[in-house]
Formats: sequence, structure tokens, C-alpha cells
Amino acid sequence: MKFFIDTANLAQIKEANDLGILDGVTTNPSLMAKEGIKGTDNVMQHYKAICEIVEGDVSAEVISIDFDGMIREGEMLAAIDEKIVVKIPMIKDGIKAIKYLTSMGIKTNCTLVFGPGQAILAAKAGATYLSPFIGRLDDISYDGMDLIAQIVQIYAVQGYQTQILAASIRNPIHIIKAAQYGAHVITSPLESILALIKHPLTDSGLEKFLADHKKNNS
Ligand code: G3P
Repeated sequence: MKFFIDTANLAQIKEANDLGILDGVTTNPSLMAKEGIKGTDNVMQHYKAICEIVEGDVSAEVISIDFDGMIREGEMLAAIDEKIVVKIPMIKDGIKAIKYLTSMGIKTNCTLVFGPGQAILAAKAGATYLSPFIGRLDDISYDGMDLIAQIVQIYAVQGYQTQILAASIRNPIHIIKAAQYGAHVITSPLESILALIKHPLTDSGLEKFLADHKKNNS
């Protein structure tokens, strides 16, 4: 399973990349706004800066909601760097845009996915990645992980090539379950990735090893 970080914060992207386990980055307009990145030129430069840090794919989201606008933006974003994946919302024109961009050899990430029917359509259109939003489903008392399991099964039965990118991750359990259920990728805030490292028995065990070594060598 690939690990993407879900942020536009360059320091956090560098910190995750330094761990040596980072496979890519996802962003969205809310994450860009959180970093105060505004205006087309600044947005483009910020994506370029992200691409210079990481080796893998970098999702950059369009803000148009009509076919022509999405294509125009998608082509502009894809021209920034070959790592750019154009993130397109799961709406009618979005499906058409995914189909078109895919035919032009541009990678796409179908976002704002909350149901299995949407997952089927995105795969049919040829999306490179599909982003089901686990946490936002949990927020409204649906089990986001059930959706991941359902899509994994459908894609396996149908032989779809689209990679399932579990998004809207809120905690380390989401990451563990996404791996267990067969998601191809998770995208997560840095905090939940780092939380995977922590175990109280690791900390107390290390403390004892170091104390015993010190006692033995003093
Ligand atoms: O990037 C899309 C997704 O990961 C958003 O997460 O926490 O805003 O639901 P969240």
C-alpha cells in the first residue's frame, strides 16, 4: 500500500518524505487555503515546490465544475510537472473530464467519492486514482471502511485498474484497516502517519534496554 500525505504544508511534506516511506502527496482547495496560498501563479508555484520535494504523484485539484474549465485547468496543472495528478470531482462533467484527460495521457484522481456507484463510473472513465472519503462518511454515521471493502471487491471482480486511494483519513486505525481491506493507497495527515509508530511497550522497553546498558557500562 502506498502512503501519500494529505497536506499542502511544505514542512510536513518534507518531514514525511524524510521518513523514507512517502509515495506522494494529495492536496485540495481547502488545504491550499489553510496554507494561505492564493492566486493562480502562487498556486502553480506551490505545486512545483511540492513536486521538487517528493518522488511520487502529487494530486492538484481543479476548481472548475464544467467540462471545458476542468480540461483547461487540468492541462495547465499537468504541464507543471510529470508528477502532477489532476484531481477531479465526482460530478457529471467530472466523469467526462476524467475520460478526456486519461485519453490525453494525463493522470487523474476522482475525488469526493462516497458511494460504490461513483466508484464504478470513475473506473469506467479510466481514473488513475479513486478517492473515497472515509472520515466524512464516519462523521455522518456511515462506516467509511465498509465503502473501501465494497469498492475493493467490485474492482477485483471487474478487473478495474483504477487505484483505490483511501482519503479523509482521521486516525491510525483508518490506515491499518485500509491496508487490511486492500486499498492501494492511503492519504493521511502527518499526525496519523506518525501515530502508527507509537506503542507504550516500545517506549518502556527501550527505556529499560538503555537503562540496563548504562548500568552495565558504568
Ligand atoms: O484530500 C481529501 C480528503 O483527504 C479530505 O479530508 O479530513 O477534509 O475530510 P478531510
